Amino acid sequence: MSEHDTLFFRIKDAMDVAKSRREGMQMAVTLGFSQADATKIAVVISELGRNIVNYAGTGTITVVARREGSGKRYIRIIADDKGPGIPDVERVLAGGYTTSNGLGLGVSGSRRLVDEFNIDSTVGRGTTITAVKWLR
Ligand SMILES: Nc1ncnc2c1ncn2[C@@H]1O[C@H](COP(=O)(O)OP(=O)(O)OP(=O)(O)O)[C@@H](O)[C@H]1O
Ligand SMILES: [Mg+2]
Repeated sequence: MSEHDTLFFRIKDAMDVAKSRREGMQMAVTLGFSQADATKIAVVISELGRNIVNYAGTGTITVVARREGSGKRYIRIIADDKGPGIPDVERVLAGGYTTSNGLGLGVSGSRRLVDEFNIDSTVGRGTTITAVKWLR
């Protein structure tokens, strides 16, 4: 047995990012995440959403809360776009690399805030980033 809760956001501007951040954080608190961990989830949603707006123009963010029968609970964040893709994923994960005037810390910083992190990106096709945080 397991239960799911899903939030789905179309992302095109900063207001969409703010809404996904706020509602994702609320979901985390409701599921029992500490304020600190819920804030980490909010930061990851915000950074991945900001990247969608900045580099792909539009995309989606899906936030899934799952409670498994075993008692395990987690939140999965999926940021998806059909933008230009990331040519050098390793470089982006290393941090400090930016093609805008950013700090180049959004992706590498997000990775450190969660338990699982995966980038699936193809140049010319788009990017899907998945992040998972377990309830502890
Ligand atoms: N969804 C995306 N589609 C295409 N390129 C992306 C995407 N997300 C990130 N990138 C590329 O990866 C680089 C690093 O992203 P990251 O979020 O770590 O830093 P940044 O956005 O440059 O600066 P900031 O620290 O303000 O987030 C970006 O500059 C961009 O080139
Ligand atoms: Mg960024």
